[in-house]
Formats: sequence, C-alpha cells, structure tokens
Amino acid sequence: MKFRKSAAFAAAAVALVGLTACGSSTDDGSGDGATGAAPSSTGIKGAVIGFAQVGSESGWRSANTDDIKAAASKYGVDLKFTSAEGDQTKQIASIKTFITQGVDLIAFSPVVETGYDAVLQEAKSAGIPVVLTDRAVDADPSLYKTFIGSDFIKEGEKAATWAKKEFASADAVNMVVLEGTTGSAPANDRKTGWDNVLGSEAKFKTLASQTGEFTRDDGKKVMEGFLAKYPDIDLVYAHNDDMGLGAIEAIEAAGKVPGKDIKIVTIDAVKAGMEALAAGKINYIVECSPLLGEQLFTAAGAVLEGKSIEARIITEEGEFDQAQAKAALPDRKY
Ligand code: AHR
Repeated sequence: MKFRKSAAFAAAAVALVGLTACGSSTDDGSGDGATGAAPSSTGIKGAVIGFAQVGSESGWRSANTDDIKAAASKYGVDLKFTSAEGDQTKQIASIKTFITQGVDLIAFSPVVETGYDAVLQEAKSAGIPVVLTDRAVDADPSLYKTFIGSDFIKEGEKAATWAKKEFASADAVNMVVLEGTTGSAPANDRKTGWDNVLGSEAKFKTLASQTGEFTRDDGKKVMEGFLAKYPDIDLVYAHNDDMGLGAIEAIEAAGKVPGKDIKIVTIDAVKAGMEALAAGKINYIVECSPLLGEQLFTAAGAVLEGKSIEARIITEEGEFDQAQAKAALPDRKY
C-alpha cells in the first residue's frame, strides 16, 4: 500500500512527547526551535549514521545541514554525510553505499516524493532502519521508522490566509508563483495548502507559476521572465525565502518597489528573508524550521534502542509580519 502522507499521517499527527520542535513568532523568535529531550546516550553515542542530504540549494538547507552536523557532534554520532546537490539518482547511490557499509541507521531528506521504494526495501532487507527528515516520500510506511519535519500543507494555508486578509478589499489580485523543485514534497504541499484556502477565490488570478528550484538565482531569472511578460503583477507567492529574495532583485531591476508595488509572501524565515521582511521588501513569512538535528538523533537513539516511536513527528512553526521580524532578528540564529 502506498502511504500518502497527508491522510495517513493525520492519524499519527501528534508529535512524540519530547521530540517536538518549536520555532514561532510567539516564542522567543530565536528560531532555535529544536527543543525536547536529549537523546539517550546508550542508543546514539558512537552509532554510525548515514545522512543523505538534498543539496545546498538554499539558506534553509545550509542551516539544516549545520544543525544536523552540530547535533551529531554533540551526541557523539559517527555521521557519514553526503549531499546529492538536487540529484535523486546521486542520493539513491549514497543510500546504497550506506547499506553496503552496514551503517547502524540511515536518515535522508528526499529530493522528490517518488522513486525511493526499491532502495527503502533494500535497506529494510539489510536490517538497517531508515528515518526521513524534512521531506516525505510517497512509499509504504513500513519501509521507514518515522518522518520528522514540517507540515508543508499548513505552511501553504498560512501564506494564503495572510494573502486573503491583505487583499480583502481588492477586486482582483494578479499573482505569480515561484514554485520549489518540481515533484518535491514542499513544492507539492505548499501549492495544495494555498489552493485549500484560495483555490475557489476567483479574484486571485494566477498569471504564471514556474519552478525556481528553491534557489535565489533561479527565483530571480524566473521573476525577470514574469515581469517582462506581465506588467501588472500584484503578488508573488514564493515557496521559499531564497526565491523571494531573487524576486526582489528582479523587481528592483525592473524599477518597481518590492513590498509595495508588488507584494511578496514566502516560506522559511531564514535570516536573509527576515531582514528583507524587516526592511519592508517581503510582506510576510511563514516559518519552516530547519533545526531538525535534535529531533533526528533523539528518534534515531530510540530506534537503535528498540523503542517504538511515532510514525510522524511534526515540527511546529510560526509566522512573521514586519514588526515580528524586527523583534526576532537580533536573536535569529540562522
Ligand atoms: O524541504 C524544505 C525546503 O527545501 C525549504 O523550504 C527550502 O528552502 C529548501 O530548499
């Protein structure tokens, strides 16, 4: 049976006690959200864990990598880290290498949602447990122990809820979308979340929607194309901060004022995004916490000790307007 995350995870959507991360505009705003019980040293100290990262496409990803490496060192994990640079084939090859090496546990953040069934089955047959972090896969849930990460659908809903209020008095809203990597869980789910709130609102017209690969450079290039074709854009929905930051550069180069002539809503809340929000160039940011290291090694420790863990561990996150970004920035760690 294929396991579609949104439906099936709902049943197990309560975060495991002691594993919940929290980064929110209602907390101290530091973004240091990975709170919770420390991993028990019996399971995790000295464990050999293979981690196959997506790549280095964004500020979020760099913060995520740094956090995982820091937590591994803190808990004495022998971390074997690889980066796929956005290439699923390369990521699967890394996972296969971890299997051959006989690591104690494999963790990875899938580049896209589909195509991992065979390698997950291979890990299972080799008796190596797998933990997913950040992004989900569309695969049989018995092939991995848990999925730790954000609720991307909720993030899209929050962004759309802000837009609905912001443009409440407008008769029509011309929108462009900078999508994340095609086929990735955050790109799929952030679209679903947006559509859940605004899909039936006729006044929100999507002029164009195209991937910017979660990178600042591609966000800029795609936005340049949108600006050349559409002179009357009111709103940019960028699936992450980096693409929103690229859009700002394109908008300024076109002689328009980001945040005023064209409003921008993004997802992540990395420092550069928060600075742009504080400066009024982005109008609203929905948080997605990259600080998953503590949760990962807590869950991994429990798995290695033979304890059962929740099938879904959700990372909590907040939202920021300009005033909240200004208040949070001095303590923002990434
Ligand atoms: O999977 C998380 C997403 O991937 C982040 O929102 C984005 O910035 C990253 O590249």
